[in-house]
Amino acid sequence: MALTGIFDSHSHYNDEDFDADLPQVVEMLRQNGVCGAVNVGYNAAASQKARQLCEQYPGFFWYSAGIHPYDAGEAANGDLDVIRELANDPRCVAVGEIGLDYFRDLCPKDRQKAYFEAQLSLAEKLCKPVIIHTRDATKDTLDILSRHTARGVVHCFSGSAETAKELVRQGWHIGFTGVVTFKNARKILEAAKVVPMERLLLETDCPYMAPVPHRGKRCTSDMIAWTAQAIAGLKGVSAQELVDAARANTLRLFGIESNV
Ligand code: NI
Repeated sequence: MALTGIFDSHSHYNDEDFDADLPQVVEMLRQNGVCGAVNVGYNAAASQKARQLCEQYPGFFWYSAGIHPYDAGEAANGDLDVIRELANDPRCVAVGEIGLDYFRDLCPKDRQKAYFEAQLSLAEKLCKPVIIHTRDATKDTLDILSRHTARGVVHCFSGSAETAKELVRQGWHIGFTGVVTFKNARKILEAAKVVPMERLLLETDCPYMAPVPHRGKRCTSDMIAWTAQAIAGLKGVSAQELVDAARANTLRLFGIESNV
């Protein structure tokens, strides 16, 4: 399955899991058909590191800045200012990942909501897209989004086909990870089926969420091939055609100019 032009719309090479061997990983990615990736921030330090990687690997890594709902609990007073400063950088392609997560009890709901709303407003002010993380919080997420004009991608989608349809209707893109290859993925595949080709993004969320047959290992962006293969059949296209469409969608959504 030798695919080319893979662009990972959501990765975390800013995670410490890649500290020891990132140059080798990037070389491996280039050799395996990956042409670029967005490193997504999840707190102030991770967002700063994502910018650093963008500087180290120009034309290969881009980045976003944001405070994830898990990290909102421990965010310090000045952290939103750090995100504001980073988000102003033209190389910062989005505000994110931001949102609500009621699956793990790491931050009180009110505080999650306050950080979510503040960062949606920031994206609106800067006219940048947002990267949304939502887990076990669909209703509150949709409520908050309905009060905002910011748009972008709902990443690592795990909701129903019905929710996917509603988000698409409201103008959102939907991102799918290796979770679509897991045994219990029927519901997510139903959702992937109803998302129009021009709104679908492919992502890894690496180092997490490695697709089958790599499940449990450290994930890298070349593994998008398995995710693409799982969804392509539902859309009546080849894995390469899906990778090409998803790349075009990602570059358009994030305003990335790339020679690929
Ligand atoms: Ni992520």
